[in-house]
Amino acid sequence: MLHTILLQAIAALWLAMPALVANPSAVIFGGGTPMDFGLQFRDGRRILGDGKTWRGLAGGGAAGAFIGVIQQIIAQSTGIPYFPEFSSDALTAVIIAVILSYGALLGDSVGSFIKRRLGIGRGERAFLLDQLTFLIIALLLVFLAYPQFFFTYFWNIPAIITLFVLTPILHRIVNIIGYRMGKKDVPW
Ligand code: CTP
Ligand code: MG
Repeated sequence: MLHTILLQAIAALWLAMPALVANPSAVIFGGGTPMDFGLQFRDGRRILGDGKTWRGLAGGGAAGAFIGVIQQIIAQSTGIPYFPEFSSDALTAVIIAVILSYGALLGDSVGSFIKRRLGIGRGERAFLLDQLTFLIIALLLVFLAYPQFFFTYFWNIPAIITLFVLTPILHRIVNIIGYRMGKKDVPW
């Protein structure tokens, strides 16, 4: 029983890693042309804002997907059940890692879109929106593309609780580190 709970929790965290890595990586790679090209929405505010750039999307997405590929190789060569493969098929594994990684950054942009519509400025705090939108969208895209994978690993209570409790905590810790390293202007 405890073994199963632990297995489900750790496996979910392991498989969500490309999504969890993509976001902080965007901070490292970000800069340059904003994804909304500086354009405003009909409410007169920026569509996404200067915090969402093409370089962040491309670089952060690639970093997350790269981690997924490394994980797949580790999973395949060790066979440890706590660290499962994304798929027994290598191509499918890469596709799932890409969906998780780029899905997280698209979700992060959805979060910014909602923030701007609510009148919350770029870099201003939005509790839960900042920390969980990217995860929800990444998981939603996995559900749409690979429902069987989604239900096997993400659709159980230990997985959901672990991801939704640990993600904001990890997000916070990583942002404080980024802030101390001078990569982020604010520690959230
Ligand atoms: N970043 C980027 N491109 C992305 C996502 C993030 O360049 N697609 C970089 C930006 O430099 C951004 C930083 O990572 O400032 C931190 O990301 P985040 O906290 O998501 O952006 P914020 O600046 O807080 O903007 P927002 O209020 O829109 O979330
Ligand atoms: Mg922010």
